[in-house]
Amino acid sequence: MTRPPRPHAFSYRRSVLNCEALPLPALAARFGTPLYVYSRAAIVERYRAFDRAFRGRPHSICYSVKANSNLALLRLLAAQGAGFDVVSGGELERVLVAAPRAARRTVFSGVGKSAAEMDLALRAGILLFNVESEGELELLAARAARLRKPARVALRVNPDVRAQTHPYISTGQRQHKFGVPMNRARALYRRAAREKYLDVAGVSLHIGSQILRLQPFSAALRRAAALVRFLRADGHRIEYVDAGGGLGIPYRHAPVNDRMDAGDSPALSAYARAILAPLRGLNVHLLLEPGRALVGPAGLLLARVLYRKSSGRRHFLVLDAAMNDLMRPALYGAYHEIVPVGRVEAGDSPAARNFDVVGPICETGDVFARARPLPPLHPGDLVALLDTGAYGMSLASNYNSRGRPAEILVSGRSARLIRRRETARDLMRPERPPYPH
Ligand code: LLP
Repeated sequence: MTRPPRPHAFSYRRSVLNCEALPLPALAARFGTPLYVYSRAAIVERYRAFDRAFRGRPHSICYSVKANSNLALLRLLAAQGAGFDVVSGGELERVLVAAPRAARRTVFSGVGKSAAEMDLALRAGILLFNVESEGELELLAARAARLRKPARVALRVNPDVRAQTHPYISTGQRQHKFGVPMNRARALYRRAAREKYLDVAGVSLHIGSQILRLQPFSAALRRAAALVRFLRADGHRIEYVDAGGGLGIPYRHAPVNDRMDAGDSPALSAYARAILAPLRGLNVHLLLEPGRALVGPAGLLLARVLYRKSSGRRHFLVLDAAMNDLMRPALYGAYHEIVPVGRVEAGDSPAARNFDVVGPICETGDVFARARPLPPLHPGDLVALLDTGAYGMSLASNYNSRGRPAEILVSGRSARLIRRRETARDLMRPERPPYPH
């Protein structure tokens, strides 16, 4: 029997871009634009590939909720066995709604946990608090004692390695706000061990995001491994090493049809080796906090061209999506592929052009791409901004009082609305006095 080919998340069929088995123009007609479109098969495949890369070694994948916190995606990942990495009470509330039983597989990171957030996590019985300062350690000890709920803790150490990524998303160097310095760690562990309601259980780190080189990971893990040995010699029972997230994805692509969904890519197995090799012989349970690598390539932002205009030598395509829908280009100068969705008619301008692709927001920085070579697109045409499954919707805002886009999850031939488009009413509802709506 021949097995069906593994589904491509996004592929052209007869010159029309599809998500799994559904043509994007039909989705645009049904759900409107701008629209985030996610492929269920791609998410599941990527999760499984990540998991496979670490097989044979005790590990848990704690999906980093900040990458995309839609409840349907959290539930989907929990059903595959994922735990979660949260950085706020709000993210934990999402986990508790989407997959309450996954609370036991959830780690809580972040430099500024409040007492209320700690209480929520203590009551939920999470797996691990990644503590980032002495002050936080003291507060957590106090809250845990007050609630009589023991807290399992790891210290998030700052290994002082360069992640070699964009400076805004690099977190593992001494000058960054994250973690505790390596040379303070042993004293803090000693301090933690004196607390009746703290259970010292691990070492944690996270050095940054969109990291494409393996050397920073292995350097960080070597430092973590050395610390585990010291801590064990000091008498601590260190069960967990949390290696954080950060594995990058390629944003610049060959034609879409040439892309495979994750599979057992060599990159994943090399990444796993870079993390695992320094831990050899330590007998720890490894925690991983991937975000982008699981959901980034599984989503795209579908938008429609509203207008075309020229000014001097610049040619603009004005989309109905804007920086409030997808912040990454404006915030980090990030590159996203922009591809036509349908057959492109040559119309009045035969040649491909270099377009500045912009949104309707009143900011000069509301630009998705500058001088991007594109076929001659026209008002009404659809375009897709690729690899926007991670840090797309989760960074979206209501700037210019724009409702955030709808999100849909495609599986085979069916599409499910997993978040409806926001309305002006949604945006005004929290304001006082209540205005009639
Ligand atoms: N764990 C911790 C403690 C984190 O701070 C992060 C991301 C992750 C895990 C997940 O990292 P990932 O596997 O997704 O790289 N908004 C930026 C990315 C910010 C990442 C912040 N922390 C962007 O759009 O590129």
